[in-house]
Amino acid sequence: MCGIVGVLGDHEVAPLLVEALKRLEYRGYDSAGIATVYKSRLDRRRAVGKLVNLSDVLVHNPLPGKAGIGHTRWATHGAATEGNAHPHSCGPVTVVHNGIIENFRELREKLAAHGITPSSETDTETVAMLTAHHMAQGLQPREAVMATVAALHGAFALLFLFEGEEDLMIAARKGSPLAIGHGKGEMYVGSDAIALAPMTDQVTYLEEGDIAFVSRAGVEIIDAAHNRANRDIVRIEPGTTLIDKAGHKHFMTKEIFEQPTVVAEALGRYAPAGLPSFPDRLDFTKITRVVMVACGTGYYSCLTAKYWFEQIAGLPCEVDVASEFRYREPPVTPGTLALFVSQSGETADTLAALRYMKEKADIVAGLVNVGTSSIAREADIALAILAGVEVSVASTKAYTNQLTILALLALHAGRQRGVLTEAQCRGHVEDMKRLPDLMRQTLTLEGKIAKIAETLAPATSILFLGRGVMYPTALEAALKLKELSYIHAEAYASGELKHGPIALIDRSLPVVVFAPHDRLFEKTVSNMQEVLARHGQVTLITDAEGARAASEGTVAQLVLPAASELCAPILHALPAQLIAYHAAMAKGTDIDQPRNLAKSVTVE
Ligand code: G6P
Repeated sequence: MCGIVGVLGDHEVAPLLVEALKRLEYRGYDSAGIATVYKSRLDRRRAVGKLVNLSDVLVHNPLPGKAGIGHTRWATHGAATEGNAHPHSCGPVTVVHNGIIENFRELREKLAAHGITPSSETDTETVAMLTAHHMAQGLQPREAVMATVAALHGAFALLFLFEGEEDLMIAARKGSPLAIGHGKGEMYVGSDAIALAPMTDQVTYLEEGDIAFVSRAGVEIIDAAHNRANRDIVRIEPGTTLIDKAGHKHFMTKEIFEQPTVVAEALGRYAPAGLPSFPDRLDFTKITRVVMVACGTGYYSCLTAKYWFEQIAGLPCEVDVASEFRYREPPVTPGTLALFVSQSGETADTLAALRYMKEKADIVAGLVNVGTSSIAREADIALAILAGVEVSVASTKAYTNQLTILALLALHAGRQRGVLTEAQCRGHVEDMKRLPDLMRQTLTLEGKIAKIAETLAPATSILFLGRGVMYPTALEAALKLKELSYIHAEAYASGELKHGPIALIDRSLPVVVFAPHDRLFEKTVSNMQEVLARHGQVTLITDAEGARAASEGTVAQLVLPAASELCAPILHALPAQLIAYHAAMAKGTDIDQPRNLAKSVTVE
């Protein structure tokens, strides 16, 4: 979602700000802007669309100054227009903001009574207006920001710049992360360390409720109770902020092709000696129920894991999307493990669901890709997804690593609960260790998958079918296709087909069936026959045995290497991703940053 940067520099900051914003592009945005203070005066430039438009504006109308803030905006309150783009200014204050100010209407009304009226539709402008109002009443920037922040409801990260103050930025965190970067005689602020990586690897993460007063000499931080706070400076490992396509056309393909490597890393970390290994606190002899919560792609990894926890470990397991879970107020029984799965670790709904469970579940665990994220910090146990930085908005390698780790966790639970013998458990891990190789073999099928995707691309709607663990795979395939190619896609549990969606089947409807030759194969194939009997255009994704048994009548077949039941959904994710990628290529859409989507959804 929105990205924030700020620089108190030794040189002109406009190019640095645009460069840092470029590194935040992956979060998703639809307008951008920067502001500087120069010769005591605040000024700003803003533009709708990609950063190149802002760069064009700056070429024709440069913005001098060595102190500045910048922002990429993902529209929430008000359309993506120049007037709604950040920074938002009022009198001596300009501000950029991530998140949502929930009480902005109420604040607006109060400010209107003082003759202060907005010029944009945004909630953010209210923050600038309120701070300017406090300053008009005689408060200095520092006190004015403290008074403003105290009046705001919602989740936000804010960064302020002031007229006449060329050595001051004020940052505030409540709900959305912010990192302070330390340079030599320069200081920076960013919504993550990735934005700051070319400038510094020395970073201080703000805690919830912190306000930071940043000057070139350093930073002073106060906590939510306004006491001085000491926050560590951490060194960021270069690999964790590397943003590079490594010769690929898109981050997405680079990340798809990294999957064998990162899955091998996850297997090495969580099954180092042939058996699953997890922190002692995850004691499944005491856990009687697993509740898993996530959004988007993470939700589908949880749905897959539900089959594993139930079948392999005999553990009741409940899965929900975070936006529903948080308001459902579900009863929580003793012995509950609450597991929150999130690539970014910042998804607002997942974080809120975690906070709800914190007082109720026996153990709250997070499975996250960003070790410094809010979910990682607030969970009792944080398990690393180990996928490396994922830049493409559509998640790929984080998904397959989530699945890999959840499969190992289910085996661990099965072993601890005595459902699996050690030998059985070792056998499953042995199978899983073959995954990186099987994935490499599958990726060699890219040419064939691209051809299939090209035939699917003209369709206006596509149906994906699967059974058992292949049902969440079908759901993920439909999600990927929608996200990337904007083709409408739906997924059904194949057994459910005849209860409605079969009405859609005709000669024009492509149907993609995930059917490895497993114990449910015959059932899935029967459902596929129902589609074929109605002239549906079936693409079958299976293995050699499945293809031999069921290819007749299908328009295309994709034959993957044979894999165990635990590995199959992980392996089948690869063609699902590549179909979406190549359909999007055929349609010419913006693959790494699909329209309207954001990588890290920090608002409700
Ligand atoms: C956004 C992204 C999805 C992601 C979802 C959940 O919608 O576009 O790719 O699956 O958020 O994100 P999380 O970081 O919590 O896994």
